[in-house]
Amino acid sequence: MTMKFVPAPDAVDVAAVPQKTLYTGATIPGIGLGTFGSDAYAGEEIAAAVAEALRIGYRYLDCAACYGNEHLIGEVLSDAIGGGLRRSDVFVLSKLWNDMHKPADAAAACRKSLADLKLDYLDCYLMHWPFPNYHPPGCGPDERNPESRPYIHDEFMETWRALEKLVYEGLVRHIGTSNVTIPKLKLILRDAAIKPAVNEMELHPCFQQGELFQFCMDHDIQPIGYSPIGSPKRPERDRTPDDLSDMEQPAVADIAQRHGVHPALVCIKWASQRGQIPIPFSTNRRNYLANIKCITEDPLTYEEMEMMRGAERNCRLIKGQVFLWEGANTWLDLWDTDGTIPGWGGYGSVRI
Ligand SMILES: NC(=O)c1ccc[n+]([C@@H]2O[C@H](COP(=O)([O-])OP(=O)(O)OC[C@H]3O[C@@H](n4cnc5c(N)ncnc54)[C@H](OP(=O)(O)O)[C@@H]3O)[C@@H](O)[C@H]2O)c1
Repeated sequence: MTMKFVPAPDAVDVAAVPQKTLYTGATIPGIGLGTFGSDAYAGEEIAAAVAEALRIGYRYLDCAACYGNEHLIGEVLSDAIGGGLRRSDVFVLSKLWNDMHKPADAAAACRKSLADLKLDYLDCYLMHWPFPNYHPPGCGPDERNPESRPYIHDEFMETWRALEKLVYEGLVRHIGTSNVTIPKLKLILRDAAIKPAVNEMELHPCFQQGELFQFCMDHDIQPIGYSPIGSPKRPERDRTPDDLSDMEQPAVADIAQRHGVHPALVCIKWASQRGQIPIPFSTNRRNYLANIKCITEDPLTYEEMEMMRGAERNCRLIKGQVFLWEGANTWLDLWDTDGTIPGWGGYGSVRI
């Protein structure tokens, strides 16, 4: 028997959570719950957090096939919707993994995510990475797949067309990008029939990606910020000695003290007020409740927002080195840092 969906006694007022409007006119909540457990949390633990987070007022779930837990989150969604939560009140996003870029595979992968999540449509479906490069879950930092290749625009667009078809078929309401750069987005915008509605990108105080953020805003692509508090429990493969801790930055610590809150909440308030949608991960009820509540009250001042702007250190944490291909120099090759998409084999480099 399905239990009635009942909001928690200390739930936030869902109507008080800021919303963003996508270029289609659809709305998306201004905060989402991350569901990637950094290879360190059991799927059941994450699904339990999702269930309670819905009761607390979260209405956007950031899912992905490669997180390996969509079938468990599907049980939670099915119970909540069966218990009275309206499907239209939840924004469910999923992502296509890199080994499924062939058009027929992409369609099958989307149908699998839908079946796992027990839904008949997704609010948004992203290409998780712009590279068709597979690495096994839990792999080490030096793991390389000899089949790996860089961004090849024609191949990316073949996959994108498959995603567009999913929109025409009504299985997906919006499509979007993740882990792309301005040069890649320019090409995608030039050639897409359906443009990306969102771009999911790493965004936290020490890595603000000002140019890409502004490019997205200028093109009506909603930025979604992953690792919003600096992913303190990210996998070993995503750690280097130069990495900074956002929560220990003087500006963050100082503002946290002024507001009497944990530094994590300063990162989330800043993200929300700046205009991106943060998607913090947590399985700790106290933390994920505080994360959503903090964007409904006690905003940062203009001066504090300026202090946060000054915390930028160009410190990318999720460098993506496991996606590198034979002949690539460093992880910087993934991110077109000199404005050029690297060439490979018969494909010349692209500067646009
Ligand atoms: N598109 C992509 O390629 C991509 C890449 C990475 C991540 N993502 C998405 O972004 C989500 C979030 O990123 P992330 O997990 O890397 O990093 P994050 O959200 O910055 O950090 C999560 C960690 O912060 C802790 N935390 C959360 N709220 C807290 C609070 N109020 N006080 C103290 N600690 C707190 C959590 O521990 P507790 O559980 O103890 O609270 C957890 O270990 C992922 O789950 C995933 O959905 C997408």
